[in-house]
Amino acid sequence: MKAMRETSNASESKPSEEAFNLGALVARRRKEATELWAKTINPQFARVLRTIGFDREWARAEGAYLWDADGNRYLDMLGGFGMFNVGRNNPRIRAALIEALELDLPGSVQMGTTVLPPLLAEALLARTPARLERVLFTSSGTEAIEAAIKLGRAATKRARVISAEHGFHGLTLGSLSVNGCPEFTSRFGPLLPDCERVPFGDLEALERELRREDVAIFLVEPIQGKGVNLPPPGYLEGAQELCRRYDTLFCVDEVQTGLGRTGKLFAFEHWGLEPDMVPVAKSLSGGYVPVGALIMSKAVHEAVFDGMENALSHGSTFAPNELAMAAGLATLHEIDTQKLVERSERLGEMLLELGGRLAARHEVVKEVRGRGLMWAIEFAEPPSGSRTYRAIERIQPGLFAQFVIGPLFSEHRILSQVAGHSMAVIKVLPPLVVSDEDISWLEDALDDSIAKAQRLPRSLTRLALGSLRAFS
Ligand SMILES: Cc1ncc(COP(=O)(O)O)c(C=O)c1O
Repeated sequence: MKAMRETSNASESKPSEEAFNLGALVARRRKEATELWAKTINPQFARVLRTIGFDREWARAEGAYLWDADGNRYLDMLGGFGMFNVGRNNPRIRAALIEALELDLPGSVQMGTTVLPPLLAEALLARTPARLERVLFTSSGTEAIEAAIKLGRAATKRARVISAEHGFHGLTLGSLSVNGCPEFTSRFGPLLPDCERVPFGDLEALERELRREDVAIFLVEPIQGKGVNLPPPGYLEGAQELCRRYDTLFCVDEVQTGLGRTGKLFAFEHWGLEPDMVPVAKSLSGGYVPVGALIMSKAVHEAVFDGMENALSHGSTFAPNELAMAAGLATLHEIDTQKLVERSERLGEMLLELGGRLAARHEVVKEVRGRGLMWAIEFAEPPSGSRTYRAIERIQPGLFAQFVIGPLFSEHRILSQVAGHSMAVIKVLPPLVVSDEDISWLEDALDDSIAKAQRLPRSLTRLALGSLRAFS
């Protein structure tokens, strides 16, 4: 047996007669968060945070804001990677969760049914095209993708899965097999066989694969999260058409783009698509409880769950769980009543306008793109040339963006991210409750931070590059 180790706070893990007091525990130990995270969860992540200066003692959050322990307010332009569409700590989702707890609901009976899961399924289906008639719940986005691959293969009796280069669909092994980002896949093979990628936007390449009539699923994000890549005109409609022609299931991954993010409830609505399968997750439970779902056609479902002996062919113990379902129902209600889809569309227009102004003011801005509140700004060496830019990018392509998000965070208190490995792209994915003033805050902050990154003194560039190399 493993010997018990001495820990500085060993009393915390000893049995205690006292009542459990979460508030007191957090208050007493919050300061240790990064150090303890490094010791018990992931020291390299803690190193990254310290190196880029993102290590803060976070105290609380509300809507589109976070506060550190010194009482400073930060604008959250990252939205927990898109899980806080209805705002952090949304009081109405919280009230629904408290109510669900107080109702002493039966919870997962397992060999029995309860009403919240089919109610959430009904609410999702009421908001999607008629082609979609069944919902399979999961506990995350990657599990919804795994379900799409597994069920899609069984339903079509075909093995091959085609996805798009630079696509991101999650990090478990099945999802990784369809992931188009080599920086995530390279060390973890062998992955699932018969998973291949085609360039995003290339219908000819897609047809070359589908024509073989052995492809189960074409899996695609309507707008790619890594880099915020928009589809060329006609691409998604054309892909759906090809899928229908060659009996391939058309699976549109709405894990990130769903639930109002792009100015429609689902991004596929921009192109009038009717997919066979739609994985969703992230913000479906208001950011409170793990959740995911695969929304699919009856035909797919019935091809897999085709008899009583196969009634439980796929599932997992915690999905669907009552808290996720309660939060999901409250979240859909919140999106409707607060008109968050319309808000996302309107603020998205503002973002594109401010992007135009930034591009006019800074030669280093190559492109600004987005839809709704999924937006990115891309940098490239200015046409007139820049030694600073070249020096930075020589060390690692895309590094310039790191030098912009640094002051954006430390001086302007805006939390954001670079949009992907080796990309000089900053991505913005805020809670949909951000205000017009918040968008102006972002414009002023970007204006200043882009200017600063271009003026970086050489000595500082070398120093910063040295430390950034530590985790690149
Ligand atoms: C488009 C897309 N699909 C799938 C996933 C995986 O979701 P999860 O992190 O909940 O497993 C993500 C996560 O970022 C995503 O952006």
